[in-house]
Amino acid sequence: MSPLIQNTALQHLGLPMVYLATSVEEQRLEDAVEGLVALGALGANVTVPHKEAAFRLCHSVSERARAMGACNVLKFLDGQVVGDNTDGAGWLRGLDEELHGQRPERALVLGAGGAARAIIYSLLQRGVPEIVLFNRTEERARTLAAELSSDGFVKVAALADWEPYLQPGSLVVQTTSAGLDGEQSPIPFPRSWPEGALFSELIYGRDTPLATAVRNLGGRVYDGLPMLVYQAAESLALWLDLPLAEIPADLMMTAARQRLSGP
Ligand code: ATR
Repeated sequence: MSPLIQNTALQHLGLPMVYLATSVEEQRLEDAVEGLVALGALGANVTVPHKEAAFRLCHSVSERARAMGACNVLKFLDGQVVGDNTDGAGWLRGLDEELHGQRPERALVLGAGGAARAIIYSLLQRGVPEIVLFNRTEERARTLAAELSSDGFVKVAALADWEPYLQPGSLVVQTTSAGLDGEQSPIPFPRSWPEGALFSELIYGRDTPLATAVRNLGGRVYDGLPMLVYQAAESLALWLDLPLAEIPADLMMTAARQRLSGP
């Protein structure tokens, strides 16, 4: 999907550039990045499972990449590797569109891995008044909550007990892959869905069992496609040194949606 999104923008901007995708073995990441620098590439996106390793090999990183301990975008400048992370910003832009700029009253984050870290960082930036973190391994949730809010602002509760926290105006962000391989999801499904609550899922193109349950209750689901497109737009702005407003994000989104709904 990313080559389609990026090449749509590059063509529209009339730039003689191309964006390619390839997979790299975990132990060859450094070689791959060195090779790209040697080839004179402008930069790269990095995805799972390389984001943390990419962060470690950068010569310098942005503040937000440091907070996430992970990079999804690299820029090559005079042989130096500069790292950034546009995942959180991409997700927030999609969220703002979904909520018409309104701030959620309470955020419930399911999962405590790398994706949850980016989401909680973004929610803190947005000034969401209450954040509760739920994870199968509660200890991991406590560690993440303490790392991101030393004052105890981010609360932790048991994954099995998440439903009572759900209220009108809540935002639920599902960051785990639970149930995607057909196994029984250990996350209990809600029995009802409050008016005005929003369910956010970081994957796109298919639903986790929990997202399906929310849809069946008439709930709204904000999926991971806007996050993918808007992190891409921010990446391109960084590589090209252009203001974000000059990146044709709407065309990138249309191309992505057409691909998803196409044959
Ligand atoms: P990512 O970087 O994509 O967030 P990760 O760091 O491997 O990936 O984190 C995966 C998250 O999904 C974790 O919160 C994990 O819970 P644990 O910390 O308890 O392992 C959660 N997860 C994965 N499979 C799960 C399952 N079957 N049930 C519940 N949680 C699950």
